[in-house]
Amino acid sequence: MKQILKTELGLNRHTFLWQVGPKPRYGFLNQGMDSFVGLAHQFFLLLIGTMKWIETLFKSKWFVGLLVAIPALRVAYAIFTEQLGGNPVEFLLIESGESAAILLIVTLWLSPLRLRFPKVSLFKICARHSRLLGVSSFVYACAHLLIYVFLENSDLEELLENFLRYFIVTGLGAFLILWALAMTSTNWAIKKMGAKRWKKLHRTVYIAAFLVILHMVAKEKSDILKTLIFFGPLIIAEADRFWRYRKNLALKKQR
Ligand code: HEM
Repeated sequence: MKQILKTELGLNRHTFLWQVGPKPRYGFLNQGMDSFVGLAHQFFLLLIGTMKWIETLFKSKWFVGLLVAIPALRVAYAIFTEQLGGNPVEFLLIESGESAAILLIVTLWLSPLRLRFPKVSLFKICARHSRLLGVSSFVYACAHLLIYVFLENSDLEELLENFLRYFIVTGLGAFLILWALAMTSTNWAIKKMGAKRWKKLHRTVYIAAFLVILHMVAKEKSDILKTLIFFGPLIIAEADRFWRYRKNLALKKQR
């Protein structure tokens, strides 16, 4: 980055010539070309500046926390302005469920993105927030469960009957895994369990993601397209990671 800025400050011979050097030979045609290159150059500088800004913003836990709180703020706004629609309970269930699922997906995305694009420092910076993102997914899942237990079901008998449904069993399975992961997300838990056991437990997050896919597909008014939009990019990123891992392994064996 420093090298790029040095160059842009005119320390490079070509930049110097470009700024004060020989006049264009082909009149307005060259002027047009010059202005195009100049524009592209300005755009490039702007892009670098913007990326730096974005990286600085994403370094802050407060900023990421604010981003994570947006769905909750959106729901609070809808409650205060009475914009919950015809079926408020369904609205709240879908909002909290989708927020939990999206945060889970983003958390899982960080590793494959960081490994695929090691030179993009933004992904490295975001990976530092994986604990915050994972725990936030669990908090939204808690809200989702509470809404279901206290608002969706009118009596205990109906609640217990519903808990045996395939759709609910998958949601509950995912929830229990997220609960175990959130409870063991502290530095103290890592020390107590040992890195190996902790890693093993935290790999179950993939089982949780799979159960959420089943949960979304098994819903009465299931929306396969929505599930694909949510999980498709993650599945592609994980498949790419697996393929690269296999390739590296084969290369190592050849040596
Ligand atoms: C704790 C157990 C759970 C229960 C009892 C439960 C219950 C429900 C219910 C009743 C709905 C239907 C809303 C409707 O359309 O009327 C729903 C939807 C949804 N749930 Fe859960 N859920 C649970 C766990 C989870 C977890 C852990 C996640 C994600 C991390 C999740 C993500 C979703 C999503 C994304 C939807 C919306 C599906 C769609 O509209 O396509 N749920 N859940």
